[in-house]
Amino acid sequence: MPSVDKKLPKLGESTIAEVVAALTAEEKVSLLIGTGMDFPGLPPKLQAPVVGSTQKGRVPGAAGSTCAVPRLGIPSIVMADGPAGVRISPTRKDSAESFFCTAFPIATLLASSWDIELVKNVGRAMGHEAKEYGVDILLAPALNIHRIPLGGRNFEYYSEDPLVSGKIAAAMTNGVQSQGVGTSVKHLVANNHEWNRNVINVKVDQRALREIYLKGFEIVIKESNPWTVMTSYNKVNGVYTSESYELLSTILREQWGFSGFVVTDWLAGRDPVAQLKAGNDLLMPGSIYQQEVLLEAIKSGELDESICDRDIENILGIILKCQAFQGYQYSNRPDLIANAEICRSSASQGMVLLRNSDKALPVKENTRFGLFGTASYAMITGGTGSGDVNKAYTVSLATGLRAAGFTCSDALESCYQEFIATEKSRNPVSTDAFMPRVALPEYIISEEQLFDTTLQTDVAVITIGRHSGEFVDRQAVGGFYLTDEEKNLIRKVSTAYRKQSKKVLVILNIGGAVETASWCDQVDAILIAWQPGQEAGHAVADILRGKVNPSGKLATTFASRLEDYPSFGNFPGVTLVARNEEEKSAAVGDKAAEIEYNDGIAVGYRAINAEHKTESATVFFPFGFGLSYTVFNYSNLQLSNNEFESDLTVSVDITNTGDVAGREIVQLYLSAPSHDRVKPVAELKGFNKTGLLKPQQSQTLSFTIGLADLSSFDPVQSLWVVEKGCYVIKIGASSMDIRLEANFNKVAASQLSV
Ligand code: GLC
Repeated sequence: MPSVDKKLPKLGESTIAEVVAALTAEEKVSLLIGTGMDFPGLPPKLQAPVVGSTQKGRVPGAAGSTCAVPRLGIPSIVMADGPAGVRISPTRKDSAESFFCTAFPIATLLASSWDIELVKNVGRAMGHEAKEYGVDILLAPALNIHRIPLGGRNFEYYSEDPLVSGKIAAAMTNGVQSQGVGTSVKHLVANNHEWNRNVINVKVDQRALREIYLKGFEIVIKESNPWTVMTSYNKVNGVYTSESYELLSTILREQWGFSGFVVTDWLAGRDPVAQLKAGNDLLMPGSIYQQEVLLEAIKSGELDESICDRDIENILGIILKCQAFQGYQYSNRPDLIANAEICRSSASQGMVLLRNSDKALPVKENTRFGLFGTASYAMITGGTGSGDVNKAYTVSLATGLRAAGFTCSDALESCYQEFIATEKSRNPVSTDAFMPRVALPEYIISEEQLFDTTLQTDVAVITIGRHSGEFVDRQAVGGFYLTDEEKNLIRKVSTAYRKQSKKVLVILNIGGAVETASWCDQVDAILIAWQPGQEAGHAVADILRGKVNPSGKLATTFASRLEDYPSFGNFPGVTLVARNEEEKSAAVGDKAAEIEYNDGIAVGYRAINAEHKTESATVFFPFGFGLSYTVFNYSNLQLSNNEFESDLTVSVDITNTGDVAGREIVQLYLSAPSHDRVKPVAELKGFNKTGLLKPQQSQTLSFTIGLADLSSFDPVQSLWVVEKGCYVIKIGASSMDIRLEANFNKVAASQLSV
């Protein structure tokens, strides 16, 4: 029975401990699990818990909410996805209003800007929208490593490199949280693909875990103090991450100093008691099964209430910061106009120019375009699943180019629009954000149509589109490799336009790496637009016409073949004969499975570059690569000292020696002595982006290298170790285009605690 004391403690007036002490066991359990979720086909045991079912729904379409305890002043807080913008229902039963959100560029595009301030600004815009729609915590950023290009959710993640992932995630977190809205850094850890994600066991050695898969999370925790962390579905070395004390209490809290609360992914893990004991404070979305198991465990003594109290204190500590507790009167009217502009400007800053032979770009004024590829008329703004956004519109490339004053062949467009309409009627596009989209097939243009279009236009643009999303990984052909229809389209258009000495441009409207080596010399320019959000067509037009000089660079290697990625050999893992009832009872039908990350730290450029050291960039596009409409000179590399003590400052001058203004992303790689252990040839240890430099203008960029940047993880001692010897600083325009080098010495070996 609740306390009858008139002076009940109240959250915010009494100490958290006093409030927790006043909770009944039922109230404690209600705070440790969410209020449930409405998802078609959920088995009975996963239905909403009894207590919560009356409280959810303050923000329709949000991912979930926590339970209120009004008598103690504890409000319910709302959590909504996702990394490309707020995902809530665009309409409501009881309202004639709309509740659209801005579909911002995907995470991979933002990472490709390498621009901390830009990403922070996008975070601020997302945080503003979340706040004005009544969302307390945005379930973002997501920063799992791009281990394999076929990972279904790579669009939601940033990079193959942990430093880029961590720094960009920290910028996003700081941006969102500056608005008084929390974040949920996810998915801790090693959720690198979708196949059997709910139960797969990821076997990974401790060095790769620390240096590659955990390092980004360590950076974001230490540099942005996220309010919450979301654990992943999978196991790591035999233990569900949501049930791992080592991960959640030892590493996350004791070693990294995390002070918020840990939330499960939705329906993740198997044992609610083990999750709470491990330090996974909140079990989302909350189910009747969890409610019953936890109440029984408290009664039987299997779950000591002190564990519940500890986890609830972590949760209440964050609820105190939430607008629901602060009593903020949200408007349901965020500034979507201003955010659309941020969407457009940030999208063009993350686009990557891979090829621009004979200055095909930027195009001249009054260029007449022939737009090929269904994606030219139906651009893909982002990925599917929880990372989707219910947006009000999408600007197509045709619309964007016409708005910029260009003409596009109307005859060609009507062929495509008719084809698209027919295809959509045959395969109605699922409006459910959770269902993977079926890609529109390519329209097979007739020789006559192509001939007429070639005569009536100056430049051909072919847009290659890719869908990807949660629940399913990408296919080799139609995912990483182009389909025959796409390759035939490029070949036919290239032949026709080149016969008339006219240029052919390809726009890659994609969420992850695709193969380019086999067709790139058939075209004059390749621009990766990624999935650039709802302002897609305007952002691409801004670059094609030179209003924006492209400055993005790859944060993930575009290799020539899937086999070039060391991880490809063991992707996606193997199914196991279900080892026990637990595996057979897995949610959503996943099968017991296992994958061994036996490539270790050899992820992305750390391995691929060593294989391709002689090949030119046209055969594949390396990590850190991206072209500009201008050129930059690197000079005057300076080190603060040549003997490394505690840190080192590095500076370099960047000069725009071309004839248009532009920005340059400068990367600092480090080659370390490897007497005691194998190391990559070089690893990214810093990056910086100039401001907009006018022709002949220079800027000095500086970097600080700390002892941790020199270290490798030693799993035997469970310490970070630094070898003595000669280290080489490599300043590059990409990981394969090193412009300046300088050495420094570390006189003695040293160690760092974890
Ligand atoms: C999903 C995703 C996670 C998302 C959550 C809530 O399954 O894995 O990223 O935030 O559930 O929708």
